[in-house]
Amino acid sequence: GLPEAVTIYEVGPRDGLQAEKAIVDTPTKIEFIRRLRETGLTAIEATSFVSPRWVPQLADAAEVLAGIGEHEGVRHPVLVPNQRGMDRALAAAATEIAIFVSATERFARENLATTVDGAIELAVPVVDRARQAGIGVRGYVSMCFGDPWEGRVPIAQVVDVVRRLADLGVGTISLGDTIGVATPGHVRALLAALDEAGIGMDRIALHFHDTYGGALANVLSGLQSGVTEYDAAAGGLGGCPFARSATGNLATEDLVWMLTGLGVRTGVDLDRLLAISTWMAGRLGRPAPSRVVQALAAS
Ligand code: HMG
Ligand code: MG
Repeated sequence: GLPEAVTIYEVGPRDGLQAEKAIVDTPTKIEFIRRLRETGLTAIEATSFVSPRWVPQLADAAEVLAGIGEHEGVRHPVLVPNQRGMDRALAAAATEIAIFVSATERFARENLATTVDGAIELAVPVVDRARQAGIGVRGYVSMCFGDPWEGRVPIAQVVDVVRRLADLGVGTISLGDTIGVATPGHVRALLAALDEAGIGMDRIALHFHDTYGGALANVLSGLQSGVTEYDAAAGGLGGCPFARSATGNLATEDLVWMLTGLGVRTGVDLDRLLAISTWMAGRLGRPAPSRVVQALAAS
């Protein structure tokens, strides 16, 4: 059977906004996160402490984190790519971080200006410092299914990188389908290979982009394999500026809609979420890509 309940890990304020060309002002970002946490979401990724030369949209990471403050029962992880990012995250009193690496060489170069090994090496001291500071670490592996330059990514290559993050002591490891090319059988095969390698499904999260419309089918495949954490962005915002053909994340509304239908508990209020995505779409000046948002907003 399927899990009774799952955790939705909201990435709208980070993955959702990072590719927006027009700078969203800091008060709007803060308001976005404050509203999202009224929906019942328990994990909302707030921002990234990456180079502002690389991602100008999130240059205000410290101000956003200060502006949202703490909120009982809600985690606010932030992306940290390197030691400089960790200095900034600690100075801003971050309480949880997420490191990110790549399963492919080309994307390690495009996204982090390094190699697959180099990205893991960048993460090592960051994870150590987090442990010393007593803060949690999530890990992302990008390009777990397909890569726009390298094509289909071999499962063994992904298992190897996940294994190395697990050995570092990273908590939940999120498998990124950065460009949205995964299909349900591929998801099942990767999860089976991880299980065989001794990586329990309780350590895995799934991060789907919806480029080909396959994200929900892929979630169902993940549920059938026992994964209980799913990344999504309110309204279906997002994409990665460093990966050609990456479009929005799986929309949180689409995910909640399907899980509700399946009887899988999320704790998230769909109506409140819908109102927020509609408000944000107004701010961004275009409709939310989510089909569920469009259907419910019209009904
Ligand atoms: P680099 O150019 O090799 O960095 O990039 P550098 O060390 O040579 O530094 C260049 C400049 O940036 C220097 O400033 C540094 O001080 C500064 P300058 O001296 O030229 O004025 N700098 C920083 N400033 C602030 N915070 C920092 C920082 N680091 C350096 N942390 C680097 C290497 C890692 C910095 C760069 O590649 C980078 O920032 N990459 C992040 C890219 C990114 O944010 N991508 C999107 C997130 S990942 C994603 O979306 C995928 C995911 O959703 C899962 C999935 O879908 O697959 C998670
Ligand atoms: Mg992503």
